[in-house]
Amino acid sequence: MANETITIVDNRTNQSYTLPIYHGTIRAMDLRQIKTGPDDFGLMTYDPAYMNTAACHSAVTYLDGDRGILRYRGYPIEQLAEHCTFLEVAYLLLYGELPNAVDLDCWSQEIMAHSLTHESVKKFMEGFNYDAHPMGILISTVAALSTFYSESRNVHDPKIRRKQIVRLIGKMPTLAAYAYRHRLGLPYVAPDPDLGYAKNYMNMLWKRLEPKYVANPVLAHALDVLFILHADHEQNCSTSTMRAVGSSNADPYSTTAAAIAALSGPLHGGANEEVLRMLAEIGSKDQIPGFIQQVKTGHRKLMGFGHRVYKNYDPRARIIKRVAEEVFEVTGRNPKIDTAIELERIALSDDYFISRKLYPNVDFYSGIIYEAMGFTPDQFTVLFGIPRTVGWLAQWQEMMEDPERKIARPRQVYTGEDKRDVVPIELRVPKTPLVLA
Ligand code: ACO
Repeated sequence: MANETITIVDNRTNQSYTLPIYHGTIRAMDLRQIKTGPDDFGLMTYDPAYMNTAACHSAVTYLDGDRGILRYRGYPIEQLAEHCTFLEVAYLLLYGELPNAVDLDCWSQEIMAHSLTHESVKKFMEGFNYDAHPMGILISTVAALSTFYSESRNVHDPKIRRKQIVRLIGKMPTLAAYAYRHRLGLPYVAPDPDLGYAKNYMNMLWKRLEPKYVANPVLAHALDVLFILHADHEQNCSTSTMRAVGSSNADPYSTTAAAIAALSGPLHGGANEEVLRMLAEIGSKDQIPGFIQQVKTGHRKLMGFGHRVYKNYDPRARIIKRVAEEVFEVTGRNPKIDTAIELERIALSDDYFISRKLYPNVDFYSGIIYEAMGFTPDQFTVLFGIPRTVGWLAQWQEMMEDPERKIARPRQVYTGEDKRDVVPIELRVPKTPLVLA
């Protein structure tokens, strides 16, 4: 490899500095030595929204947004979706290797054994209004789990950490299903560990009076594939939140609750809900050109399009499109898929979207499948949160073992007032009158 350094000349002082380049990055702290004098703090980088800042090393997920490549621990997402189950992929993300049959069996049994929740968790959830948003229920209930497992505060003990990881992965579908049934006023259904991860989730959602719930295998497979596709996506908004909150040594339940909160926003995981609302509003194909015009004039956003990292077709969206057709064989065709396909066709031939490299992301087609399965839009982001819990925990675990770990604490460029003295209240003149809401 050629000389892996960069030389910077500070034109303020005519001094030059040679900094090492490591994996295509320079260390921001190496810039601190660049000063105009002894009283100067030193140079920092300014990067709102972390557009060009690597905040960690990670060996979990590889993403090449320009080429539309996504791999977990080196395995292409397409192969994992085709050949593996979600719990296999969960094991891979957490331990770095795919399990053999014996390990997978133990792992699955362990996760399923943790699908039960404390009875008081149910009572806690009953306190929510019947129309509470399921993401609000999930954020609060996951945070509340820390009060049930007080040992989880000991984040430095690898055994205790592992215990909370299996608890969280095991309980997430149970909490999500309870949030679903709460809305409908239906009694909560106890987990049935024999069914496995996706089928048991369906059991807890949809079981009525039958003695044993029998899941449709096509729908169960589709759900499992969707879980695989959503399991991790390197340093996105919610994962960065997980790392930032976890860096303070907060317990993993509080930390995961913070990540779920980040996921809930419409620019992140909440986009799947917004896509369905948008498709419902557009209604029919003939309304699409008018809608696209509103997007191009900046009055609307095409939800489910665009990505901070993908500047090419999101490989997950391609797989989801295929899964949608399999689901429709069972549920009947959701007519919104035709509106979505036409929307995509028009958008991808329009210079506004081409020049900005805006392609469908994972959220564009997922909600159409969820709706066909019988979920209401407010449940969609919960369906994202269940599998992403695995990715958050894999990244949290990696961070906890990183020798370079420190509390996350960015700097700022201060743009406020210089020092000034307090004026007695009777002499203060308000700049603008206060408007009360
Ligand atoms: N519809 C219309 N225009 C868009 C869209 C969109 N969905 N996304 C980006 N643009 C435009 C912006 O207006 C901007 O145009 P300009 O250069 O003329 O100002 C340009 O494309 C670049 O967009 P940014 O907002 O700077 O891109 P950024 O990387 O900051 O945002 C984001 C990425 C938030 C995902 C954005 O594309 C978006 O809001 N998409 C819709 C919401 C969505 O689907 N979110 C889910 C993302 S996937 C996930 O989190 C699971």
